[in-house]
Amino acid sequence: MAGQKIQAPKGVSEYVPPRSEAFEFVRESLIEPARKAGYQLIELPVFEDTELFTRGVGESTDVVSKEMYTFQDRGDRSITLRPEGTAGVMRAVIEHGLDRGQLPAKLWYSGQFFRAERPQAGRYRQFYQVGIEAIGLDDAAIDAEVIAIADAGFKAIGLSKYRLEITSLGDADSRAAHRVDLVKFIAGMKLDEATTARAALNPLRLFDDKRPEIKDAMAKAPLLVDYLSESSRAHFEQVKKYLDVLGISYVLNPRMVRGLDYYTGTTFEFVHELLGAQSGIGGGGRYDGLMAELGGQSLSGIGFGLGVDRALLAAEAEGVINENSFVSDLFIIPLGDAAKEMAMKIASQLRNAGKSIEIAFGDRALKGAMKGADKSGARYVIVLGESEISSATVELKEMKTGATSSVKIDSLISAI
Ligand code: HAM
Repeated sequence: MAGQKIQAPKGVSEYVPPRSEAFEFVRESLIEPARKAGYQLIELPVFEDTELFTRGVGESTDVVSKEMYTFQDRGDRSITLRPEGTAGVMRAVIEHGLDRGQLPAKLWYSGQFFRAERPQAGRYRQFYQVGIEAIGLDDAAIDAEVIAIADAGFKAIGLSKYRLEITSLGDADSRAAHRVDLVKFIAGMKLDEATTARAALNPLRLFDDKRPEIKDAMAKAPLLVDYLSESSRAHFEQVKKYLDVLGISYVLNPRMVRGLDYYTGTTFEFVHELLGAQSGIGGGGRYDGLMAELGGQSLSGIGFGLGVDRALLAAEAEGVINENSFVSDLFIIPLGDAAKEMAMKIASQLRNAGKSIEIAFGDRALKGAMKGADKSGARYVIVLGESEISSATVELKEMKTGATSSVKIDSLISAI
């Protein structure tokens, strides 16, 4: 109806000023360590053929069975808004032959992902991730480097109240041996039909069941880490050794279940201590069978997805985001037309020199313009009038302290 307000769809995260700048700072902080380690940007569509996710992510997962935004497009194709990034990256790597160049192919991405979850604090239906994928080598040092890159991102934001949990899901042999005993164990439990069906698809899912009676029963279930093959065990030992070398502390969590089915070998999660129920700020691991599953050659891979929304919440909870770092350096108040021209020239020079400058437009009276300067949070303010122009000197006022000093217009750059 005309005139009625329209609201954002339920459960989406969106960022408006001033918080949007903090969000961008968090995202950039998470990306930078990947760039420094030689990862290159891959920019992919937010929708894909539905089959990519049913096959890639797995039908036993909540993500695929309950949370996908799937629709028929106008050509009657089944399309799904991407719930995660790894499957799409593998699809693109195969399609563009990136696996035929130098290995590992090292890629980073950042963008929106979509899961129709029940919205709550830190859990959204559209959310943001920064992710990386290293495809084509199964050197344990890469596992440690991938983990270190995530860790460096969180540290760059200033986070410290989080822990890294790691485990190994082993190779196919390890999982097959474990599965035999786990299936036997599960057969002795009383389960409803839906849970039995899930367990048949992937018995590990039961470790992730939140119902107390299932949790209690699963406390005695056989653990995958006790079934690791010799080579899986050796690989995992190496990963831990490299993490020790890097000084990255971790806790072993042999009951970790990731929400996606493609994981093998090293898997990990970063858990923040101040976030309550949605405390996972990032996670990832190896997915050594995924590429072959999606029709590519049999290459291993490892990567992570970091939750930008949650990392921002974590930064706010820790009080490490300094809102002041997202404000302008200088606010110029011109009085009169000649001053306005001068202000625009000064602003453009200082901006070219890397400073952020705002100008009070609209020919407002000094008092109102001063209020605007105050509201903007800018570090310094100057007023440009006839006398300032003729003397080429301004009074530079530091907003926080109120302290003023006389500065030549030519020297503003060094003064601010
Ligand atoms: P994931 O654990 O499903 O992994 O998601 C990674 C991170 O995204 C989570 O740790 C969390 O911070 C954030 N996240 C997930 N769902 C939501 C939501 N509904 N609202 C807010 N934040 C959310 C993956 O997606 C894998 N693709 C990661 C990966 C890459 N593994 C290997 N390579």
